[in-house]
Amino acid sequence: MSVLFSPQTIRGVILPNRIAVSPLCMYSAVDGLAQPFHFAHFAHLSTFARGKAGLVFTEATAISPEGRITPQCLGLWSEEQAAALKPIVEFITSMGAVAGIQLAHAGRKASTESPFNGAKPISPEHPDGWQCVGPSPIAVGSGFSVPTELSVDAIKGIVSDFVDAALRSVNCGFKVIELHGAHGYLMNSFLSPLSNQRTDEYGGELFARMRFPLEVARAVRKAVGEDIALFFRISAVDSAEGGWTMDDSVILAKELGEAGIDVVDCSAGGISGGPSFRVSDEGKPLNKSSARAPGFQVPYAERIKKETKLKSMAVGVIIDPQQAEDIIEQGRADIVALGREIMYNPFWPLHAAQALGADPEFGLWPPQYKWAVDRREQIRKLNG
Ligand SMILES: Cc1cc2nc3c(=O)[nH]c(=O)nc-3n(C[C@H](O)[C@H](O)[C@H](O)COP(=O)(O)O)c2cc1C
Repeated sequence: MSVLFSPQTIRGVILPNRIAVSPLCMYSAVDGLAQPFHFAHFAHLSTFARGKAGLVFTEATAISPEGRITPQCLGLWSEEQAAALKPIVEFITSMGAVAGIQLAHAGRKASTESPFNGAKPISPEHPDGWQCVGPSPIAVGSGFSVPTELSVDAIKGIVSDFVDAALRSVNCGFKVIELHGAHGYLMNSFLSPLSNQRTDEYGGELFARMRFPLEVARAVRKAVGEDIALFFRISAVDSAEGGWTMDDSVILAKELGEAGIDVVDCSAGGISGGPSFRVSDEGKPLNKSSARAPGFQVPYAERIKKETKLKSMAVGVIIDPQQAEDIIEQGRADIVALGREIMYNPFWPLHAAQALGADPEFGLWPPQYKWAVDRREQIRKLNG
């Protein structure tokens, strides 16, 4: 019996299996509005649901216009944007999958071009750009704008933007909400001592740097009630000298649990450039943590699961069905999230179920396909 294909209950939510589609920015929204692309175009959200991932996350969805990474990022600061997302949620749900949304504020990494347009920062003076914000006036790196330091009032305003977007998410039908606290974006930049050098109650020692993300988590939990499953994506390590460490992540996770978070999604890197999953065009690692080995970030999820009461989600170069099965079976994480592999093959879960013997009768396939893939299998057997 495959554990990868066993259900997972989190509060009032039952995931049919342990496979999640990791949040994947498509940089294809117009004024934050989901487009036909997000629904049905090649290999996107509806296709992942058809492919039988148990949990289908949207890409990072900005809680305010300034919180977008690029001008083409999805947003959820208006009812019009919510209305565009609702049919997508309904379709995902109709396929038996659970719809999740990742809510995000890009902070000092906001106002950039999409990766396929060069990924360069767009200056605030450019008609498509805007002024980015952060905990301290420290730029991400050369070429990036210096962010405006957020006032305490502005921080409170962002907490309430997260709450508003979370309530809209619930109204759209999302059962899982992930708060994006990784990859150098706003919440991550408050956590890391490299980007947060404030001297007020939101900066300084570890617990002060954790204050803003914990306020967001607490406020969102209070607003959405007890049934919604809340995930929080961390960069488990900064992988930079003097930066955030795995020990810090364990302390944060325990506090997130108290604040109402259920699952910690364990990614890494990004505070001073690309997150650790990135490679250069020549295939070279972009920073010290950028291991390419299968499951290179799984140890982070394993530590969170073992040292806290929370569930964890592992992500990063999870490619093979048996690898995914082993991660769950060995108790290293509760859910596995796939990004590039499931973009390459949106039917990865259906194929993994075959490889693991979890679906011998093609019961996960829609009836329109089941009878035909059954025959295909017989023909394959006949042909040796
Ligand atoms: C095209 C693309 C878009 C991504 N967008 C997001 C995003 O919106 N939010 C996020 O937290 N991570 C994002 N990521 C990171 C993925 O969620 C995932 O953590 C990463 O790709 C590692 O998993 P993989 O090795 O299975 O691809 C993105 C990655 C890719 C390749």
